[in-house]
Amino acid sequence: MSRYADFDEYEELLKKRLSKKRFTHSMNVAEECFKLAEKYGADKRRCYLAGMLHDIMKEDLPERQRQYTVESGLSPDPVELSTKSLWHGVAGAYYVREVLKIEDREIISAIRYHTIGSARMSLMEKIVYLGDMISAERDYKGVDKMREYCYKDINLAMSVALIYQIECVCSKCGGLPLSTFEAYNYYLKFNKNKEKL
Ligand SMILES: [Fe+2]
Ligand SMILES: [Fe+2]
Repeated sequence: MSRYADFDEYEELLKKRLSKKRFTHSMNVAEECFKLAEKYGADKRRCYLAGMLHDIMKEDLPERQRQYTVESGLSPDPVELSTKSLWHGVAGAYYVREVLKIEDREIISAIRYHTIGSARMSLMEKIVYLGDMISAERDYKGVDKMREYCYKDINLAMSVALIYQIECVCSKCGGLPLSTFEAYNYYLKFNKNKEKL
């Protein structure tokens, strides 16, 4: 049962659409988004829902993920279009808007940018981006430090998170969308002491 009884339908849908592991991740992200929203004075309910739904397309057919990405009207850039692991962000935003008929633009945008980030993100967008990185089951090296940053200063946390993500992508010779570079450059000013994980 989710924290909000009226989200139980979404929870059932997630159970059907996701593996057990990713379902657990999604509910953990929702919980983390709730806590971050509480800390930073955002709308807890809407942040929880955005967190819950952020990976809703992640395990759908790759062809459908790509089709939704192309048809979303959400301006995916060339790197997003050519990188399979990035489709689910744009496709997920499309899914919640077109299939679930959720009209909350901030929720749609938080899902759309949860993988790539962007400059000048809304509080909810930052909460979903970071909630996804520090959910309870995450155990990468540095996650505890990341958790500390997230509850200390959300903009500094964005900078540290982006440096970490970009380094991970580059170490695998992966492509980076323009939006990620813009996010990196934008949040750098909140990282005066050049902190990283
Ligand atoms: Fe994701
Ligand atoms: Fe995720």
